[in-house]
Amino acid sequence: MRKKARDKDKITLLAMAGSTRTDSFNKKLAKIAMAGAAETGANVVHLDLRDFPLPLFDGDLEDESGIPDNGVKLKELMKAADGFIIASPEYNSSVSGVLKNAIDWVSRPYGDESVLECFHGKTAVIMSASPGKLGGLRGLFALRSILENIGVFVMPKQIAVPGADHAFDQDGSLIDRALQERVKALGIAVAEMTGKLAD
Ligand code: FNR
Repeated sequence: MRKKARDKDKITLLAMAGSTRTDSFNKKLAKIAMAGAAETGANVVHLDLRDFPLPLFDGDLEDESGIPDNGVKLKELMKAADGFIIASPEYNSSVSGVLKNAIDWVSRPYGDESVLECFHGKTAVIMSASPGKLGGLRGLFALRSILENIGVFVMPKQIAVPGADHAFDQDGSLIDRALQERVKALGIAVAEMTGKLAD
């Protein structure tokens, strides 16, 4: 059993998209799941990777100057979370470079942290949105594999939203109301699972 990361009564979920784009479909999707999680009373913190620009991981850079400040800030946010909501685009059949690069930096050892402290024993729900017909589904297999191999319990249920360029309303909600509710339900489910694991 993990101890809750931040306070005794509430779990904290960190929600992020694997895209930095302003009008990102995946940012919209993550926000819908966030709303579901928030309904359970969980603390839900939104993270925009655009606010934490990082160089491409380079072992020489790490040797010379350690983890960049933004990597350390990301680490602090991740360590304070009990679980994650991640919506990532699929790039060339895999996870986006920006998300993988962020994961790579925060996975590096730092100070007196335990191994993979940002991830180990935590929970995640993953989802994707793409204008394509598969909705970014192939990227989810890659993302699931990465997260599980660094110690994250990834919820079996996931959602890939196809036709994303026509799927969202002006207010960012999904036009297909049943799908909107399914995405919210994923947020609720990860909050409940995270609470059970962190009791
Ligand atoms: C894409 N896109 C894409 N879509 C997909 O369904 N399968 C794929 O393999 C790829 N590959 C890919 C590579 C690169 C380099 C880019 C820039 C884009 C299209 C992608 O789904 C689309 O740009 C989404 O809008 C990206 O997600 P956000 O930014 O809207 O969240």
